[in-house]
Amino acid sequence: MSTKRIIIAPSLLAADFSNLQKDVSAAQECGADALHCDVMDGHFVPNITFGPMIIKAVRKLTNLPLLVHLMIEKPELYIENFVKAGASEITVHAEACTHLHRTLQSIKALGVPAGVALNPHTPLCMLENVITDLDVALIMTVNPGFGGQSFIESMLPKIAALRAMAEEAGVSIDISVDGGIDAKTAPKVVRAGANVLVAGSSVYSNGDGKSVREACDELKLLANTALLAGETEKCL
Ligand code: DX5
Ligand code: ZN
Repeated sequence: MSTKRIIIAPSLLAADFSNLQKDVSAAQECGADALHCDVMDGHFVPNITFGPMIIKAVRKLTNLPLLVHLMIEKPELYIENFVKAGASEITVHAEACTHLHRTLQSIKALGVPAGVALNPHTPLCMLENVITDLDVALIMTVNPGFGGQSFIESMLPKIAALRAMAEEAGVSIDISVDGGIDAKTAPKVVRAGANVLVAGSSVYSNGDGKSVREACDELKLLANTALLAGETEKCL
């Protein structure tokens, strides 16, 4: 199985919404691979963010893929709106979908890759019967709802088990991690098997005085070094 390339996706949740253009452009210019857009409804998670209107506005500001993470109840009702607004990929939560298989098919029928996210407490077996139907599996490494939380270390074996599950099923999916990803945790998640790194605070509001470019470059370098080290280990 080929190793998936590292994708660094800054999360707009931590961006400056009074000057979104500045932070979107900063991500694009610093070589980020995508933008992660957190949609929250105040029901599935105890926070409210934005909807398709903001996605539409961001779409006009960048050519970067917009990875839309729906932390909402009944996401199936809104998928088409988000795709029409410019989403490049839609991820729904397994916990929010009564008919997950059908929802994944609907996303793909609209012509965009489909992802499933799992909350920290949700077992991997939720993905077992849809693993061949999804393009991305997103492991929440914090409880969804807010940026700036601490990475949950016990998610590392879950990431590794997911990578093994995908390999066993013979599928080459992206494994995304979301929450508490920074210079310390990035190498750990890559070694465990993740290749899509979502990072909010560590890119946009790190307390270390790093610019968006410095933070992105650092994450990319650390992630790629960990990936390379893992590949070399496998060859030895
Ligand atoms: C949390 C969101 C994340 C958030 C991560 O529910 O899904 O995408 O932006 O923020 P950090 O990187 O600050 O943990
Ligand atoms: Zn997210």
